Amino acid sequence: MNFHTNHRLLLAFAGIGYLVLTVLIAVGPAISVQGLSPLPGARERTALEERGRQLYLAEGCGFCHTQFVRDLPMDKPYGRQSVAEDYAAEDPPLLGTQRTGPDLANVGTRQPSETWHLIHLYNPRAVVPQSVMPGYPWYFAVRERVEPGETEVPLPESFRPSPGAVVVPTEDARALVAYLLSLRQVPVGL
Ligand code: HEC
Repeated sequence: MNFHTNHRLLLAFAGIGYLVLTVLIAVGPAISVQGLSPLPGARERTALEERGRQLYLAEGCGFCHTQFVRDLPMDKPYGRQSVAEDYAAEDPPLLGTQRTGPDLANVGTRQPSETWHLIHLYNPRAVVPQSVMPGYPWYFAVRERVEPGETEVPLPESFRPSPGAVVVPTEDARALVAYLLSLRQVPVGL
């Protein structure tokens, strides 16, 4: 039987090879990470943070941001290497594929200021002049003055919608920022 001329043998070889590789590369690893529990020290998201996560999904923030730190020198500034347990409570996990902007897996630790995030969300150029990230002004309300119980977003004068206008965050802006602040890696191996 000649392997080069017998089409049955060729087809069987390719078919079995395909099945073996599928089990080794996809099915096996998927089975091995079933039933993982979150790392000790990880906490559940609050209702506000969960709402923020839904907005993050709806806005497609993940098209420009990963939440997955690789074991590579260039990923060091983003945090420790991601492990499967980081995603145990994630449905769906927001690993992302493209990094037009920085990885956000640990952004709550790197940038813990709510005010900074609100200014950045309203218009990234107000804090990072060279930023190509779009602004999300529809998560904010514009007022002539601050109403009781509201907190103004301290925008530089040139970034206000009109001179002297006051910009305040909506509940959605607060939720999105609460979600960003909740993105903190917990140490592995405690
Ligand atoms: C078109 C691509 C793009 C989209 C869409 C996008 N971003 Fe960004 N983002 C960037 C870039 C580029 C930067 C780096 C410059 C800067 O800080 O603005 C960035 C920076 C950030 C930072 C600061 C990270 C750090 O380490 O300092 C946060 C937080 C952030 N983005 C959140 C969001 C959220 C939330 C959304 C969705 C509402 C979003 N981004 C959508 C491109 C994007």
